[in-house]
Formats: sequence, structure tokens, C-alpha cells
Amino acid sequence: VPRILSGMQPTSDSLHLGNYIGALVNWVTLQDQFDAYYFVADLHALTVPTDPAVLRRRTRVTAAQFIAGGVDPARSAVFCQSHITEHAELGWVMNCLTADGEARRMTQFKDKVARGQNANVGLLTYPMLMAADILMYDAAYVPVGEDQRQHLEITRDLAERFNTRYAADTLVVPEPYILKESAKIMDLTDPTSKMSGSNSPDKGLLLLSDDPKRLRKKIMSAVTDTEAEVRYDPATKAGVSNLLVIHSTLSGSSLPDLESRFAGQGYGALKGEVADVVLAAVEPFQTRMAELLDDPAELDRIVAAGAERATVVARATMQRVREAVGLLPAR
Ligand code: TYM
Repeated sequence: VPRILSGMQPTSDSLHLGNYIGALVNWVTLQDQFDAYYFVADLHALTVPTDPAVLRRRTRVTAAQFIAGGVDPARSAVFCQSHITEHAELGWVMNCLTADGEARRMTQFKDKVARGQNANVGLLTYPMLMAADILMYDAAYVPVGEDQRQHLEITRDLAERFNTRYAADTLVVPEPYILKESAKIMDLTDPTSKMSGSNSPDKGLLLLSDDPKRLRKKIMSAVTDTEAEVRYDPATKAGVSNLLVIHSTLSGSSLPDLESRFAGQGYGALKGEVADVVLAAVEPFQTRMAELLDDPAELDRIVAAGAERATVVARATMQRVREAVGLLPAR
């Protein structure tokens, strides 16, 4: 069975609806067909200075949210990136394959620097660590949102470079798995920017941990436009289109069906139904979250079992890599 892998950073107190629709929903579907590895990218989160107790809490919450969202730890390995020390080792090998200018040209790095975030070297080498995450598991597909596309491209480049320079077929060149419509959920207050845990204002973010009243309120006050026509057209009707995408991905109704169903109705009707659909997904999610957080020992067991599975694969890959690059065998 081909393997797939994906990760999320524990950079806020809850995942948001963009993480859920853009990635988690696909993780859940794909675990039926693939040998799936899903991890909390705690090493990547260190690129932003965070209080240690807060990082610990967020890491637990993120792992629990994977499971509450439908990842089945009996089938899919759920683990913390830092527990598999090979990630950092392979990350180093990837750093040594990457040109300085290549790293500095990555849009995410440039954006963060442009926003005045004082960049540490970890932020610069972030994509190389991510390449290591992916290549470690011979992942055939990587289910992510649109914002990760460039990272997957550099991962493919690095895999090919490695194979060419050292030994053919050592690393598997992965394919992105990015669904067109759901891959970019937008900020409700500014539907031309992506919904982002670190950049969107609270009102623009639908957190999976928000209480239902709050979620409804945020959706009812989402920015739309001055027309009154419910139509999918991201270029000129970003707000309405975003609401339609949220509805469609969660309810399973197609965009044309939704357009005709809401024809002649105002945006209020659409928003009300989007809120219903979001709550129908989030309420059972929150119930499962409460149960999971109630039993921290069980969560620790899940993450430990996931690390055991991941270690087996990671050791084998690192052995191949050591051999290929000329490091002496370690164990
Ligand atoms: P992160 O933690 O920012 O986001 C986790 C996942 O959610 C997706 N996503 C979105 N999808 C649609 N609309 C949005 N508004 C939205 N916001 C976020 C992201 O595309 C991602 O799939 N670098 C990664 C973490 C990572 C990783 C990896 C992923 C580290 N190593 C290896 C895959 C494979 C990140 O920061 O995602």
C-alpha cells in the first residue's frame, strides 16, 4: 500500500476551519486507501518563539484534534515530529543540498521577512526540514492546502537532486494532493487573504474550538459584497465564493446546486445555512475533543504508538541515506 504523509504546526490553541477543510478532511478520506502518517510539526513550530508550556499544550491539542476530526490512530500513525530524531538528521542533509539563494527565494520566507518578523535561520531552512519530513516516509502523496504547494515543489526538486547526485531511487519523489476548490479557505473579514491562525483577526477565523454561538456570529458577519446574487466567482465575489466553498465541502452539495438553491435569496439565507453546516461538523468534533482531553494518558499512548511505527520507517530511510551520501553506518 502506498504511503502518504502530512503534518500541521501546533502554532495556535486550535486548528481553524481552513486546516480542517484544506487538509484534515482529506487526511481522513485518504487513510482508507493509503498507509497514512500524520504528525504534529513541533520542530517547525520552534521557528516562532513560544512559551514551552504553551507549546506543550498546543502540541497535545493538535494531536487530539487530528483524532477528533476523524483520523483513526488504529490505522494511521499519529505522532510528534520531534520524537523521530531522524527528521532533524535528514533535514541537515537537505540543507546541504540547498543553495542559499534557493532558500531565500521561498515566498513564505520572503513574506515573513517582509512582514518584519525577525527571521531566525530555522525559518530559512524550514522547507528543507519539511522536505525531510516527507522524504523520510517515501510518501507517494502529501495532502495539504494550496499554501504548501511551493514547499512540495522544493521537496520534489531535492529528492531528484539527491537521487541524481548520490544514488538513483533512494528517495521517492512525492506528488502533492491539493484539491482545487477546498484548498484555500479565506479570512471571513478579508476574503482575499487566506484564513490563517497567525495572521487573520479573530473575527476572520473559524476555530474548531470556538463555541457554536461564536462561530455563528462570525459567519453571519462575514464580509461579502454589495450585490445580492449568490454566485461562485472567486475573482469578483471572494466573500460569497468562500462561503459557498465552505458549505459545499462540508455538506457535499455541489456549487451549481447551491447557486440555484439560493437564487433570488439574500446573503443572510446563505450565511445562516453555512452556519448550520459548520456547526453540524464542529459540534460532534468538540464532543470528541472533550473526551480525548479528558484522558491525557490515552492520548500519550496514541502518540507513543505512532512514534514506534514512524521510527521503523525513519530508521530504514536514514540507513539508505547514510549509505548513499557516504556516512558510516550508525546502527
Ligand atoms: P500549517 O500548520 O500552516 O497548516 C496545516 C494544513 O492546513 C492547510 N491550511 C489551509 N488549507 C486551506 N485553507 C486555508 N486557509 C489553510 N490554512 C492552512 C495547510 O496547507 C496545511 O496542509 N508547513 C506545514 C506543516 C508541515 C508539513 C510537513 C505538511 C511540516 N512538515 C510535511 C505536510 C508535509 C504548515 O505549516 O502547515
